[in-house]
Amino acid sequence: MDLKGTSGVVPLRKVLLFVLTLCAIFSVSLSKMNNTTNDKILNSKMPQHSKSHDYTFHFVIHGNVYPLGCYTVKVAIGNLPKLYDLDIDSGSDLTWVQSKPCESCTPGSQYYPYNPKNNIPCNDPLCVALNKNCHPPTGPCTYTFKYGYGESSSGILVRDFISFRFDNGSILRPSLVFGSGVDQKPSERHHFSHVKTDGVFGLGNGKASILSQLSSLGYIRNFFGHCLSSKGGGRLFLGNDKTSSKSLVWTPMLKSQSSNIDHYRAGPVDLLFNRKQIVKGVEVFFDTGCTYTYLNQKAYKALFDLINSDLGEKLQRTNSTRLICWKGQNIFRYFKNIVLHFRKTNSEFILTPESYLIVPDPYNTCLGILDASKEGLRRDINIIGDISLQDKLVVYDNEKMQIGWSPDNCASPPS
Ligand SMILES: *[C@@H]1O[C@H](CO)[C@@H](O)[C@H](O)[C@H]1NC(C)=O
Ligand SMILES: *[C@@H]1O[C@H](CO)[C@@H](O)[C@H](O)[C@H]1NC(C)=O
Ligand SMILES: *[C@@H]1O[C@H](CO)[C@@H](O)[C@H](O)[C@H]1NC(C)=O
Ligand SMILES: *[C@@H]1O[C@H](CO)[C@@H](O)[C@H](O)[C@H]1NC(C)=O
Repeated sequence: MDLKGTSGVVPLRKVLLFVLTLCAIFSVSLSKMNNTTNDKILNSKMPQHSKSHDYTFHFVIHGNVYPLGCYTVKVAIGNLPKLYDLDIDSGSDLTWVQSKPCESCTPGSQYYPYNPKNNIPCNDPLCVALNKNCHPPTGPCTYTFKYGYGESSSGILVRDFISFRFDNGSILRPSLVFGSGVDQKPSERHHFSHVKTDGVFGLGNGKASILSQLSSLGYIRNFFGHCLSSKGGGRLFLGNDKTSSKSLVWTPMLKSQSSNIDHYRAGPVDLLFNRKQIVKGVEVFFDTGCTYTYLNQKAYKALFDLINSDLGEKLQRTNSTRLICWKGQNIFRYFKNIVLHFRKTNSEFILTPESYLIVPDPYNTCLGILDASKEGLRRDINIIGDISLQDKLVVYDNEKMQIGWSPDNCASPPS
């Protein structure tokens, strides 16, 4: 990425154009997570460097593309764990929670800001991974993280217990490093884009992500997968869930030029609409931190022209919102599939109309693919966001450096 933030890292995130609620605050029952007397707590303090496990942790995903605009999981943090509703973001490494003293917290944290305890110093390798300019070496590890859309979180990196529940109910509570965000700024560009979650769950493959920390402690293989349902909700797993990998097709991940930036990127890809070429040989990012899908200017225009000429006079355009919309709500049948053809493996990632159109109200069906250049993102960027990741199991294998997918109904795991 050539977008630079204060910490040198600018992942791409959440964009909401006409959606007031970015993400609801879900009511949760704490009794299950803080009444640990029922549960066997495993390995709560000492990492088992000697042993390499192959655990899988399942999470229930909440949320949707519209109207909430994000998918979240509840993560239990602290010695007396509290649940925080965190936006799952495959486009960044840093996990952070809104924290006391809340110089500026966004509405999500009306809930209960985290109370930070153990700072980590600048010279901790996990601090260096996120902020190599941190100074002095033994001072607290501060960070400022800016997202592609202008939102930001600033705070300090801390270490605390995070609970992971096995399917049998036992809990593993390793001590992990994450951000304690005391100053959150919503995007200036789009004042609707307030962060209404309690924070972000960064699933990048950089050293400091929770995924990489669990993997380097020997608990899980460096894998994760998500399945976002178009009906809302879904499931997330950390570790190699072998049961779900049968019918996946794979394509290799491209390596980042900079070790600091760890988006999941693949290509070259040819994009087709109704089997006609939109653009060829581009790269795409898989980013659950973005609600919508973005195409570079040229690809966007080509797609739009193809859709228009295919529709002809069949549908009427409306422009009641900033998005491009057509009149009517049961009109998906008029739209053709978009196919992403990954050349290296000859594999296809198919976007049915359900994974690129939204129905914001009874009168409009709108294109959930936007022009990156008009949205303040890099002009040549292509991002597959939440909308187009729906109803697919998508697996990120950081060991073999490949991304796999298969159609799936994405029902939540039994819990
Ligand atoms: C769980 O935590 C909440 C909030 O800290 C507290 O009110 C409640 O009493 C706790 N319940 C148990 C069983 O410890
Ligand atoms: C906590 O666990 C104990 C022991 O199993 C049980 O008796 C009690 O009802 C539980 N309390 C809550 C709030 O779940
Ligand atoms: C639950 O599963 C974990 C991981 O396989 C295992 O270590 C633990 O002992 C199991 N707990 C119980 C109560 O069976
Ligand atoms: C859409 O908006 C443009 C500019 O605001 C306006 O000129 C045009 O007439 C509108 N089209 C429809 C179908 O409302």
